[in-house]
Amino acid sequence: MRSHFDIDAQLFLFQNALRSRMRVAVLTSGGDSPGMNAAIRAITRVGIRRNCQIYGIFGGFQGILDEQMHELNSRSVSRILHRGGTFLTTGRSEEFRTDEGQIKAAKILDERKIDALLAIGGDGTMRGLAALSKHWKGKLIGLPGTIDNDLYGTDYTIGFDTAVNNALEALDKIRDTAQAFQRIFLVEVMGRHSGFIAVHVGIATGASAILIPETPTKIDELAQRVIEAREKAKSSVLIVVAEGDELGDASVIGKELSDRLGEKCRVSVLGYIQRGGSPSHFDRILGTRLGAFAVECLLGGRDGGLVGEIGGKLVLTPFEETWSKPKPFDEWMMGLVDELSG
Ligand code: F6P
Repeated sequence: MRSHFDIDAQLFLFQNALRSRMRVAVLTSGGDSPGMNAAIRAITRVGIRRNCQIYGIFGGFQGILDEQMHELNSRSVSRILHRGGTFLTTGRSEEFRTDEGQIKAAKILDERKIDALLAIGGDGTMRGLAALSKHWKGKLIGLPGTIDNDLYGTDYTIGFDTAVNNALEALDKIRDTAQAFQRIFLVEVMGRHSGFIAVHVGIATGASAILIPETPTKIDELAQRVIEAREKAKSSVLIVVAEGDELGDASVIGKELSDRLGEKCRVSVLGYIQRGGSPSHFDRILGTRLGAFAVECLLGGRDGGLVGEIGGKLVLTPFEETWSKPKPFDEWMMGLVDELSG
């Protein structure tokens, strides 16, 4: 027969074993992107298999401050792999931007005995993690989740491929009506600070011009390019504009262009349709790989950066480099836009 001491000792050992399991919290922050759910699922399931306890924080960084934290099990992340958006919901927290907010978040994470925080998002999220590291001793890892693809430290961000495919589908439809009427169309795609979506969509749909924030847009040269396209008997002219072009949005540029050409240019803004919908195969795989890799990094004692994939290799890049280093553009492809449009 077991004594009380034996039972107490076993309980102590059991509690200790539980305590030594790494407690990992995960959140999504900023603009949602298709494939975030694949990453959350991989973190949860791989983490649990490797003896971690996983906590989902709902509503981004604000969710830490509001203590919206719940333990996840393998079933919590069932049937989310194929869904767009983010199962954890997201947000942009003003409070967390302040020192006070970050100190409060650190205190809450300590009270909840969280050992590590994984955050999926864009450059704002990486800045948030870097800021938190000044007040919190726990481990921090970022995963690249943004449709904009504008993070240094990974060839592609989770969600970019789906957004490009969404835009592509819309542009192909616009091409049909442009061709039927022999019209000029300016199509605005997302990208407040970067033109990755515009470049990929523009090249893949045979656009006559691609206007992005990274390069100067010269309206007279653009008008000349359209005139030349007309002279070459091009029936329809598609111009892809990144929403953050330094000259203005597609409506502003469309008006300027119409005035110069003496012909009304049609404008179509694709908007949020690009950000939603079922993630592509590429984004599901990327989210899964990076989610699993993030857990492996944590358990292997590596943190303090963004997990990404460069040239097929999984890498960890220090937070600050992700926003301070410029992400290389495919200048060569950009240079071919004119020749490719015929
Ligand atoms: O960061 C992704 C992105 O979709 C940008 O391309 C866009 O400018 C921005 O988010 C819009 O986000 P929201 O309207 O949700 O603030």
